[in-house]
Amino acid sequence: MFEVKKIEDINLVENPVIAQMSKYNHEQLLFYNDNATGLKAIIAVHNTILGPSLGGTRMWNYATEMDALNDVLRLSRGMTYKNSISGLNLGGGKAVIIGDHRTQKSEALMRRFGKFVNSLAGKYITAEDVGISPIDMTYVSMETDHVVGLPGKSGDPSPVTAHGVYVGMKASAKAQFGSDSLAGKKIAVQGVGHVGEYLVASLAKEGAEIFITDIHEPTLKRVAEQYGAKVVGLDEIYDIDMDIYAPCALGATVNDDTLSRLKCSIIAGAANNQLQNEDVHGRMVMEKGIIYAPDYTLNAGGVINCFAEVEGLSSKWAMDKAIDIYSTIENIVKRSQAENIPTYQIANKMAEERIEAISKVKLPL
Ligand SMILES: NC(=O)c1ccc[n+]([C@@H]2O[C@H](COP(=O)([O-])OP(=O)(O)OC[C@H]3O[C@@H](n4cnc5c(N)ncnc54)[C@H](O)[C@@H]3O)[C@@H](O)[C@H]2O)c1
Repeated sequence: MFEVKKIEDINLVENPVIAQMSKYNHEQLLFYNDNATGLKAIIAVHNTILGPSLGGTRMWNYATEMDALNDVLRLSRGMTYKNSISGLNLGGGKAVIIGDHRTQKSEALMRRFGKFVNSLAGKYITAEDVGISPIDMTYVSMETDHVVGLPGKSGDPSPVTAHGVYVGMKASAKAQFGSDSLAGKKIAVQGVGHVGEYLVASLAKEGAEIFITDIHEPTLKRVAEQYGAKVVGLDEIYDIDMDIYAPCALGATVNDDTLSRLKCSIIAGAANNQLQNEDVHGRMVMEKGIIYAPDYTLNAGGVINCFAEVEGLSSKWAMDKAIDIYSTIENIVKRSQAENIPTYQIANKMAEERIEAISKVKLPL
């Protein structure tokens, strides 16, 4: 039976690798070392019941190999949940390349990595993540077809991601305020980069009162002028009078400090890992009467865009599929309220339930 109790950090210091894989149901972990190109990489395939595993490649100068292992195990498992709850026929996987992406990347290293991906014969499909550029992915694609998000293919996923966040925010508003209209609602968007700006555009169109902050002053000024949003300070954003807080920059902004300050009744944004501690802050938001739209459910537009590319589906299909996030959030909130369980736990359960159900479909006739 497929069952993972909760998404938490894996601790390889306390447990050996295979015990840890077994505890969190990872299927496969592959290591690759190549002295000629300097490639040191790990691919983790967490679960392939729903389909081939898909998740990005991250290049990072990890302090230790254990840190790299922890990251790839944790992130690949996260992809299984995101792909499952989004109704996609994809499993969860992830790759990490150990090294400094500013100084240690080369065409040869990326192409060698492409060969490594290819050795899994499609069981793992890769994409861009932190430290990897579109040009790097072009090199990867010279050695494998199992790569998505290439320049000229499905393109920038941000519009689809922002659309999913927008509809999920509306579903949260329906549950909290009785109407999904965001007109006149005070919404604070933290980070107006790729996703944040598209989100602000939709909110402005609907007549929301928008507050924005960003560390990049020129972007902040331009977005404020273009959409009539009010600029607030980087730290001030947690104290303003608002209905909805939309974190679209950083993780872990929902924590002890901010929860003692936030006056919102909904948290719905694009950033990954918004809850600093899932168990503690997931429950705390519920007890404060705040609806928290689970981050990986809300920001699944990116992976929906990748899936469209895998299946040869149009960008319109991806945009339409992102609308499903509305009903997924509705279901999560309903179950959370009925069972008195934090929304992020319900999201995990729903992801597990789908995998469990589909595993029965896959049995031989
Ligand atoms: N792009 C996607 O399709 C996608 C998909 C899933 C999840 N996400 C997540 O959504 C978030 C936003 O993604 P993006 O593609 O828009 O990234 P981005 O880098 O384009 O935008 C992030 C913005 O946040 C700003 N920022 C950084 N630190 C800040 C701070 N301390 N306070 C305020 N603003 C700050 C940056 O200046 C930038 O403008 C990220 O956490 C990302 O992991 C993005």
